[in-house]
Amino acid sequence: MSVAEPPRERITVRTLADKKARGRPIAMLTAYDYPTALILDRAGVDAILVGDSLGMVVLGYENTLSVTMEEMLHHCKAVARGARFAHLVGDMPFLSYQVSAAEAVRNAGRFLQEAGMHAVKLEGGRDVVPVVAAITAAGIPVMGHIGLTPQSIHRLGGWKVQGKSAAAARQLLDEARLLEDAGCYAIVLEAIPDRIAGMITQSVSIPTIGIGAGADCDGQVLVTHDLLGIYDRFTPKFVRRYAELGAAMEQAFRSFIDDVAARRFPAREHSYGMDQGELEALLGQPGSRNRKWPVVGRGRKSVE
Ligand code: KIV
Repeated sequence: MSVAEPPRERITVRTLADKKARGRPIAMLTAYDYPTALILDRAGVDAILVGDSLGMVVLGYENTLSVTMEEMLHHCKAVARGARFAHLVGDMPFLSYQVSAAEAVRNAGRFLQEAGMHAVKLEGGRDVVPVVAAITAAGIPVMGHIGLTPQSIHRLGGWKVQGKSAAAARQLLDEARLLEDAGCYAIVLEAIPDRIAGMITQSVSIPTIGIGAGADCDGQVLVTHDLLGIYDRFTPKFVRRYAELGAAMEQAFRSFIDDVAARRFPAREHSYGMDQGELEALLGQPGSRNRKWPVVGRGRKSVE
């Protein structure tokens, strides 16, 4: 017996708030292109983040610092074309919101106006409070991001777990509250001890979405290329691999190369036929003196 699925509606900031209120976990994943957005949407993910992880897992940069507004918008547009139901979050790249609040509002607006996103995400705590306030005042929902913030990788001294000392944990708790007060509708908590993430989750009324922040957050996010096993330059401890698509892709590419080398591909069913009369009109009658085109196919290769 099949159970009819309830009609689906677009997930919004209100749906996410409601999920926290009802204790229902939020599932968010990243996407950077149209087909992945289609598949994520079909699978029923709540939110799709077009993360600036784009720079590392798709564009091959060393870290996220090189990613530009134009690159982000290009990929956001593709994702927006693929996703009908998920809440869509565009990640503000390095230097798109740090220079001034006015520039931050203008750049945040481009994610909604040009690229079909529903919200933006930006990294940082106390320092970004005025920017968060300015963007939300412009009617643009902002997702915060604290803990390990990859755009500050040089200041943090590397990809290190944050908030491990009492003082650092207290700072994270303060910053989560400040971001909520500034208007954030959700906060990503990255690479912090699970106990601290749990305390933050209890102490703010907006949803927390963890990545390497334990099970007590209101939701979880992973970089899709990590989850699928496509990006293996570096796999953080907090990733669970749900597939080995990188290995499967390599195997498929090898099989294609072998088939081409051995002339096993393409087969008859991959080739287009042609009306015999048209062919003879082109070639001339068999045996005719006009017959000078090469006749190829089915093992024959001759010039008549
Ligand atoms: O850029 C990104 O994908 C992110 C997630 C890791 C939260 O910021």
